[in-house]
Amino acid sequence: MSEDKASKTERTARPVRVLSVSSGKGGVGKSNITLALALALAEMGKKVLIWDADLGLANTDVLLGVRTKHTIHDWLKGEKTLKEIVFQGPLGVLILPAASGILELTEISETDKARLISEFEDWREDLDFMLIDTAAGVGPNVIFFNLISQERLVVVTNEPTSITDAYSLMKALSVQYDQNDFYIVPNMVPGPKDARAVFQLLSDVAGLHLAKVSLDLAGWIPYDPAVPAAVRGQKPFYLSDPDCKASKGVAELARYLTFKTPPGFGGGGLVLFLNRLVSGRRALD
Ligand SMILES: Nc1ncnc2c1ncn2[C@@H]1O[C@H](COP(=O)(O)OP(=O)(O)OP(=O)(O)O)[C@@H](O)[C@H]1O
Ligand SMILES: [Mg+2]
Repeated sequence: MSEDKASKTERTARPVRVLSVSSGKGGVGKSNITLALALALAEMGKKVLIWDADLGLANTDVLLGVRTKHTIHDWLKGEKTLKEIVFQGPLGVLILPAASGILELTEISETDKARLISEFEDWREDLDFMLIDTAAGVGPNVIFFNLISQERLVVVTNEPTSITDAYSLMKALSVQYDQNDFYIVPNMVPGPKDARAVFQLLSDVAGLHLAKVSLDLAGWIPYDPAVPAAVRGQKPFYLSDPDCKASKGVAELARYLTFKTPPGFGGGGLVLFLNRLVSGRRALD
């Protein structure tokens, strides 16, 4: 094989893991965990892009204390390239800001589809993870981003409402769309016992009613006052307080995920993601 061909094959084979972060209930820590996880992965040498897909209340930029000028909506209007929209956060983490009307992406023309794929291709060579921070609830956008992701992470607290809503989200994805594998991350729990209790509760209910669902306790994050303090200071807690309990929990989670072999996609994570992105609408009908 020529050197050119070999390096192209290598690039094509690079697995980009696309992982959604959802919860059902709002305010349980999705955005903070997504950002901290991205930073922890970046610290391990991974190249990470966060897609802030919380369309109503996008706030990765607020957590970072930066103001974004453009969103993917500007790309849709043909006024900006993806590279002009994405901004670089700490440790080289890339952030793609949210926009309303994301489902428009599923109805774009063939030309724009090619444009989207070719622009994303530019990142393929040096992207290891795409983390998608979704909105609360079980609305079409949340379902959509879960369906186009290769791996799904569900954040849950020890409040009954959070557990019920996480269950509802997984039920919708399993029963209606046959998506059955979920990482579970208990957040704001007092200690490991509580994390395991939350996981056990979810597993028991899922086991009773959702035969195909398989849950994986990927990590847990303790309640830690350093998190709200960092939110108020608009600095990610993972950087402002790297030794706090929450940062340690996130670092463990990052390690766990990097050891996991992603299901299914082989080397085509990003391409499959893009194909699903632009044809995902059908999946929702
Ligand atoms: N481990 C933690 N310890 C203490 N407080 C936390 C922890 N995780 C999150 N919080 C607090 O919970 C609040 C909600 O967090 P965040 O915005 O990340 O949740 P969310 O799930 O993204 O919310 P939304 O559904 O509105 O998008 C924040 O004020 C944050 O300070
Ligand atoms: Mg959020």
